[in-house]
Amino acid sequence: MNRIVEVLADKTDLIKRSQEILLSRLQAAIEARNQFTIALAGGSTPKPLYESLASQPLPWSKIHFFWGDERYVPASHNDSNQLMTRQALLDRIDIPQGNIHPMDTTVADPLEAAQKHEQDLQEFFGVKQTEMPKFDLILLGMGDDGHTASLFPKTEALSVSDRLITVGNKDGQPRLTFTVPLINQARCVVFLVAGENKRSALKEVFASQGDAQNYPSRLIQPQGELIWLLDRQAAAEL
Ligand code: 6PG
Repeated sequence: MNRIVEVLADKTDLIKRSQEILLSRLQAAIEARNQFTIALAGGSTPKPLYESLASQPLPWSKIHFFWGDERYVPASHNDSNQLMTRQALLDRIDIPQGNIHPMDTTVADPLEAAQKHEQDLQEFFGVKQTEMPKFDLILLGMGDDGHTASLFPKTEALSVSDRLITVGNKDGQPRLTFTVPLINQARCVVFLVAGENKRSALKEVFASQGDAQNYPSRLIQPQGELIWLLDRQAAAEL
């Protein structure tokens, strides 16, 4: 397995390291393809990274922002991942609106919204229906139940292998989420995991044998790089 695990002293160091990795992958992508495609994660851990990026002089017109998952609420709702990242980053920078690619949660049927976003991705990346696009970087968090994106334990979304986007299910509430194969197609996947409450799930996710239905983060095994950034609190039992 190509997994790299880095344990950082605390959240501040974890964010600093995630920013270094992001900036280096950004530079490489722009040199190679003149654009950088990144999928953002929700949750509290990456928020300071987004805030820090907002003050960097980056080539914003060459950066395209996507989300790995979204709660099925309006974009103005406090639970919206889009809202969090707009407030922390996207509303603070000079970026063409066409470079921001949120998941549309205004359609009544989440499945329809998933299919629409899938088509948007296929058009943007210029891939056929049977192909998976390759993101330069996908940022992920992990819940204390081992879920990542909106791939929750024992849900149907875990086994979707022929779609880019599907409907996740958090305690009966629909979510939109990247599928496992889409995430695994990425050039680089970075998990940001901090805090004591992640210890036991991390142990299960990193165990040599285990059940991915119970700990969906086990399913994330990208073709490209896989980097787990942990703080000492989270990594204490590994
Ligand atoms: C959710 C959560 C979740 C989150 C992880 C990590 O939508 O259920 O937001 O997906 O990303 O639980 O969250 P923290 O970074 O806040 O630990």
